[in-house]
Amino acid sequence: MLALTALAAALSAASVMATPMKRAAPGPWCDGLGSGVFDTSSSFTLAAYNTTGPNTDSTGAPLVLGTAGAFQQTQIWHFITEESWGSYPITYPTVSLENGTLILQSDGATPAQATTVDAGNSLEFAARASANPLAGAQIYCAVQGDAGLPLLAVNNDADSFSLCQTTFENAVYYKAAPDRGYDFDSCYPVKLQILFQ
Ligand SMILES: *[C@@H]1O[C@H](CO)[C@@H](O)[C@H](O)[C@H]1NC(C)=O
Ligand SMILES: *[C@@H]1O[C@H](CO)[C@@H](O)[C@H](O)[C@H]1NC(C)=O
Repeated sequence: MLALTALAAALSAASVMATPMKRAAPGPWCDGLGSGVFDTSSSFTLAAYNTTGPNTDSTGAPLVLGTAGAFQQTQIWHFITEESWGSYPITYPTVSLENGTLILQSDGATPAQATTVDAGNSLEFAARASANPLAGAQIYCAVQGDAGLPLLAVNNDADSFSLCQTTFENAVYYKAAPDRGYDFDSCYPVKLQILFQ
């Protein structure tokens, strides 16, 4: 009995030390997504798993952050296939979840904030010198996938992503729609699988 009590005390002390600031439950951006959801994580990359056609392996096409234009002092980034990014240097090699927002991780690159994601749009991040990554849109959650890997959800939805062809790249869109600057006929549904690094 004494030993058990000591063990319990040691365990609770250890968990308090390991996660001093973590909340017990994920926020409303995980509502309706079942059990096993989380909204804070260590570093990962994403892969787009083709849900209706062939995949080269069980994880799917690796995704990276590619540039999607710039205005004034802000550069926009979004998820595209590594294949369409080619051999250019990768500015943000990994991402993480922090309290429902996605953080683009890098050494020394311009900080970036997740922006809200409307139907028909890609998953965008605005990078500028004054950006605060922790103040990005709180719209992301990780959910349990059927294949064992967690899946990324946005707007409480993990089932509405597509890969679509633009002039130069294959990018991820949420609720892909016609007349939005990409070839809607090229779109096919994908799940965004989370690969911890
Ligand atoms: C994914 O599946 C679709 C069929 O739904 C197919 O047209 C497409 O070429 C596949 N993508 C890849 C990368 O194989
Ligand atoms: C998470 O976000 C909510 C809503 O913005 C905020 O109230 C809360 O303090 C945040 N928690 C942490 C641990 O950052």
